[in-house]
Amino acid sequence: MDAFRFVNGILHCEGVPLPQAADRFGTPVYVYSAATLRDRYDAVASAFAELKPIICYSVKSCQNLHILRLLRERGASFDVVSGGELTRALEAGADASKIVFAGVGKTDAEIRQGIQAGIGWFNVESEQELENLIRITAEMDRPVRAALRINPDVDPKTHVYTTTGKQETKFGVDLVRARNVFDRYGRDARVKMSALHLHIGSPVNTVEPYVEAIEKTLALIRHLREDGFAVDTLDIGGGFGTDYETGEAPSPSEYAARIVPLLHGRGLTVILEPGRTISANAGVLLGRVLYTKQSGAKRYVITDVALTELVRPALYGARHFAWPVVPGDGFVPEARRCDLHLADTELVDVVGPVCESSDFLAKGRWLPPLKRGDLLAVFSAGAYGFVMSSQYNSRPRSPEVLIDGHSARLIRRRETYDDLVGPERVE
Ligand code: LLP
Repeated sequence: MDAFRFVNGILHCEGVPLPQAADRFGTPVYVYSAATLRDRYDAVASAFAELKPIICYSVKSCQNLHILRLLRERGASFDVVSGGELTRALEAGADASKIVFAGVGKTDAEIRQGIQAGIGWFNVESEQELENLIRITAEMDRPVRAALRINPDVDPKTHVYTTTGKQETKFGVDLVRARNVFDRYGRDARVKMSALHLHIGSPVNTVEPYVEAIEKTLALIRHLREDGFAVDTLDIGGGFGTDYETGEAPSPSEYAARIVPLLHGRGLTVILEPGRTISANAGVLLGRVLYTKQSGAKRYVITDVALTELVRPALYGARHFAWPVVPGDGFVPEARRCDLHLADTELVDVVGPVCESSDFLAKGRWLPPLKRGDLLAVFSAGAYGFVMSSQYNSRPRSPEVLIDGHSARLIRRRETYDDLVGPERVE
């Protein structure tokens, strides 16, 4: 399904024409489709259904409380990486006993918060963290479950900044060390070491790295079981690809076709941590053209959207399809491809108002002629979009809007100048 469609030449999200949303909520604005969130969640759930997995939606990809609630109602639990994310998940009504808490640097306060809440698993990433967890659970006299995050030394073939399963990254412990960790700490009375965790990177656009990582981890589980450790859970993380620009990312069922047979019948509760595969294509970022200008051979479209709203192009060189919301006759795109080149389009860089040359949304794209006031949509912005936004250049963060059928609802208000300076009004 595609909730973002051109109807009579106007981009809609479900039943709502996007110019209407832009007029009502202003720009820049994040607009999400509830139907897409449900549909993408269901696609993961049905693809992996045979394993009866616990699906822990990765809060970091798109964290709005209303979206968390919607996914929780669909059956999701949550993968969190901070006390703040844990607070969000709990406020969204999560079943704490199914929450996984990842991250290489959990503070004592965050560990206490997780224990207090009764979360499902602490995904532990080092010996020192485990020692700390053992110390705090003893102090609080509360039992917990822990999963040891394995660094399987597998190349997910993604951006170096989002590669996490290779040995030279900070994540997890290697396969050899893992056995020593279990030997040393695996029989603690309060910290039940019954699980392993993987998250090799994101997005991982092929299935092979998962297969390799899971096979290595299953071999480790065999050894650990031989050594008497009752490993009953394997969390394979997230990172499943999504269609950013080519439409060629595998679907959840293509991942599942290789992964399910590997895990079926192994006596393991399987946990998945999908983020972007659920949220990325559920959101667009809308902006308005402020000015256009020619500079030498280059044509610039200057919008009110900056890297403060969407940092992915600046940070990872990510390419998001961007297109006018009302593109005009002959310009309705038949596919969302960044290399689309229709007749009578212009070669432009789409940039924002922030004082950095890295402040671009799209570079070297053939777009229909744009003028002041025109609306532009940046697609696949639902994941790692708003959540990575900042107030740089003292820009208040954008609002978020959730569309469900014909209704559009504000789910986060636009920040004000008071939100910018308020926290600094201290003695
Ligand atoms: N589980 C763990 C432990 C993770 O660290 C992540 C993402 C996920 C699950 C979810 O991955 P997903 O399914 O969303 O790919 N800012 C980057 C992505 C960073 C991902 C960090 N960890 C981006 O914009 O591409």
